[in-house]
Amino acid sequence: MDLHIGQVPLRSHLVLAPMSGVTDRIFRRLIRHCNGADVGLYVTEFISVECLWRGNKRSLFMMRKDPEESPFCVQLYGRDVEQMVAAGRLAVERGAQIVDINCGCPAPKVVRRGGGAALMKDPQHIARIVEAMVEALPVPITVKLRSGWDDEQLTFLEAGRLAQEAGAAAVALHPRTRKSLYKGVARWGLIAQLAAALRVPVFGSGDVVDGETYRRLFQASGAAGVMLGRGAIENPFLFRELARVERGEPANAPSLQERFQLLRVYYEGLREDYPERPNLHLGRVKNLVNRMTRGRPQVLGLRQRLLRSQTIEDLLDLVAEMDQAAPVHLEATA
Ligand SMILES: Cc1cc2nc3c(=O)[nH]c(=O)nc-3n(C[C@H](O)[C@H](O)[C@H](O)COP(=O)(O)O)c2cc1C
Repeated sequence: MDLHIGQVPLRSHLVLAPMSGVTDRIFRRLIRHCNGADVGLYVTEFISVECLWRGNKRSLFMMRKDPEESPFCVQLYGRDVEQMVAAGRLAVERGAQIVDINCGCPAPKVVRRGGGAALMKDPQHIARIVEAMVEALPVPITVKLRSGWDDEQLTFLEAGRLAQEAGAAAVALHPRTRKSLYKGVARWGLIAQLAAALRVPVFGSGDVVDGETYRRLFQASGAAGVMLGRGAIENPFLFRELARVERGEPANAPSLQERFQLLRVYYEGLREDYPERPNLHLGRVKNLVNRMTRGRPQVLGLRQRLLRSQTIEDLLDLVAEMDQAAPVHLEATA
């Protein structure tokens, strides 16, 4: 395995995608617990540089990492160059080995202020941010792009090239436009175009959920690595499985019970980082249940009962009942 971002070596080319409201320290710990060395890089959820600039404690808290967590990347969003640099310094002080710039978030409250996917309308400004951060910070700077604002403005090639010229050490692409949000399919062909155009490693993001989709994206795109997002929520063992598939071994997809056992581990972690916030605990655990059971007719009844739970204790009792039942196999990863 010889993949580096700048001077930072990655153990694997499978990277945990940044996901707001999901990839906090506790979720990342869960992913580490399930996959160990098969995770190439851990990325935080996006963090607002404006909030950091105002001294917002919660935003600083979002930069927390476990000592064992490495390599570790903090993703920032914003537009103001000075604020981006200042936030980058805070991230490095807190252990970031890589700092990533979000150029893909489609949320109205983010793009209205010119950040996230709005940056795709202004690739020159992406380059200005990258240049200033490369100049000021001792760690590699990366960017995560969408394909453009809409189909009439596919700016990913220009943005990728300018970011590389400005010193970006890697580029990730989620090949959907801001306008398409998460609809339709990720256009993996665009990842291939970007990988062919750049010298720095390109990471492909979008719709990889099993061995089959992984092989198709990885082989068809020529990307240096693959980011796993929603697929890793649905199946937190996905990195391990894909590494097995790559070695030609059986994937050994975990049963539903094995996935559900993680809910307890996750809950214990949430209690540690967010004490006194039972609604957050229940909401986050339900979010995981929702993703793990979505579109699985064989567990529809159970899914409904779990998602109707009023308290975390009720939900975990239902999970405990499942332990006694015969293992439920959701699918065999190809
Ligand atoms: C709930 C959720 C939150 C996300 N938050 C972020 C984020 O904070 N930063 C970012 O760059 N992308 C974010 N994304 C986009 C993902 O990183 C990824 O590019 C996208 O979901 C496509 O990959 P997937 O099909 O593997 O999920 C988010 C996606 C989801 C589903």
